[in-house]
Amino acid sequence: MKQIISRLAAFLVSACMAASIAAGQTSSAAVDAEGHQWWQHAVFYEIYPRSFADSNNDGVGDLKGITLKLDYLKDLGVDAIWISPCFPSPQVDFGYDVSDYENIDPMYGTLADFDVLASEAKKRDIHIILDFVVNHSSDQHKWFLDSKSSLTSAHRDWYIWRDGKGPGEPPNNWVSTFGGSAWKLDPATNQYYYHYFYAEQPDLNWRNPAVKDAMFDVERWWYKRGVAGFRLDAVDTLFEDPDLHDNAILGPGKNAFGDPIEQENYNKRLPEVHDVLRGLRKVADEYGAVLIGETWTSNIAELNAYYGRGNNELHLPMDFLFTTVDKLSPVEFRKQIASVDAASGWPTFVISNHDKVRSYDRYGDGQHNDQIAKLMAALYLTLRGSPIMYYGEEIGMKTTPPTRKEDVKDPIGRTGWPDEKGRDGERTPMQWDSTENAGFSKGTPWLPVPPTYRTHNVADESKDPNSVLEFYKKVLKLRHTNRALLDGNYTAINESDANVLSYLRVYKDHGVVVALNMSGTPRKMSLELKRNGFTSAKRLLATEKSEAQGDEVSLEPYGVFIGELTK
Ligand code: NOJ
Repeated sequence: MKQIISRLAAFLVSACMAASIAAGQTSSAAVDAEGHQWWQHAVFYEIYPRSFADSNNDGVGDLKGITLKLDYLKDLGVDAIWISPCFPSPQVDFGYDVSDYENIDPMYGTLADFDVLASEAKKRDIHIILDFVVNHSSDQHKWFLDSKSSLTSAHRDWYIWRDGKGPGEPPNNWVSTFGGSAWKLDPATNQYYYHYFYAEQPDLNWRNPAVKDAMFDVERWWYKRGVAGFRLDAVDTLFEDPDLHDNAILGPGKNAFGDPIEQENYNKRLPEVHDVLRGLRKVADEYGAVLIGETWTSNIAELNAYYGRGNNELHLPMDFLFTTVDKLSPVEFRKQIASVDAASGWPTFVISNHDKVRSYDRYGDGQHNDQIAKLMAALYLTLRGSPIMYYGEEIGMKTTPPTRKEDVKDPIGRTGWPDEKGRDGERTPMQWDSTENAGFSKGTPWLPVPPTYRTHNVADESKDPNSVLEFYKKVLKLRHTNRALLDGNYTAINESDANVLSYLRVYKDHGVVVALNMSGTPRKMSLELKRNGFTSAKRLLATEKSEAQGDEVSLEPYGVFIGELTK
């Protein structure tokens, strides 16, 4: 009975989803008869622009550099690039402190360079997604400079200003996620302003309709310039309790910055966030654009809330739940995949980004890292949903954190040293070839190039059929051309297997089986084909010593088998 109810619920959810996708996306052409949108079949690729390709050899990547690499991205199998902030910025948080939302930072080029990038990308059918930093601006943005100038300035209420509790005391106990109080005193007006991140990143006051209008205008401005969507930064923290209740303190422990650990009930995920998301979505729908959200959800109910009722908020709330599985555990992955697969919107899968240790190190055992990198590619690129890759993941780039405090660039690495070394390690220059500076720049790169560029780089891996890069290309090609991988349902098989993660993807008559050995020993197992209406599996893509015979698959250590199912 329980099963019937849950199947019925799943059917209703998917029926509602199909209806709402069809209804809400009128301006965007569906790519198939089922009403799928382009972003549901797309592979996204995050570019951290400082570190991707440096065309003018000043040590920092730029837009012209990205344009020069579009053919590489196309050949890899990328459909959309998400460029981390490239707007004018004092670069305190490397672009996540925006001082002008409608321009390009000279370090990255000009608006004309952006236009060239957009038109060259369009020629190759690659969509451009920009990073919209909606929670805060830079303290050097003209809005904040005016806001700060007097108690009665036109923009005073564009940010969160409050009197202190008492002399020298901030308005309440909220701490910044980057360390210290979340309030900074402005001696000129004797009030504090609120900043969830660095003090140079004051939070915008989204309760002020003028802020909403201005930000919606920014959104439109970029759509008109050819942008296909946004990744929305830090949406969890858009609103704060207007009565400024103190957060509860969770126990006696301290975080890496020496601050108390707070339960952020009063400054995170307030219900008003959803009004803003619905507003941003309405504008996005006018342009057939996609909204990806930086959403640090801790369970599926929170994730569902971000899709919105009837899927009217984020198209792709980024599912970091997947990255919380920090070991090669079929049991854990199975659990996360099943819950995300049953969520009320289209799944998104991310295994690395500019704030997280790279997947190469998270899952690698130090000996079989390349095999494990291929295994992870075979996993998240064959699931039902849209994957978001991170530059360099496809060549097996390694997290390389600084070893000395004086070398740290990311400010949180300096305040939190040695517990928190910052995020430099996952932002090192892209490794294009084995020449000096990995072909990233002829100048001195802003972060050192890891020594692994000699073995892991695009040029050499392109010539090696067994490289991580060539494996990525094969999986990406398969997922773009195989109907079951694009649209098929996900069904877990061998659900109690603690070593091999395996599943079917079935779309009408097409079926694919994926079997991933997450252990260091060879494994054999049944593919449960008969139970699922199939008889055998024909190799589509597999690692060297992995194969299937009838219903049985043999997998080498960390081996992958992806097979087409026959009836
Ligand atoms: C999330 C971004 O991913 C991170 O890099 C940044 O520091 C914070 N938001 C603040 O914008």
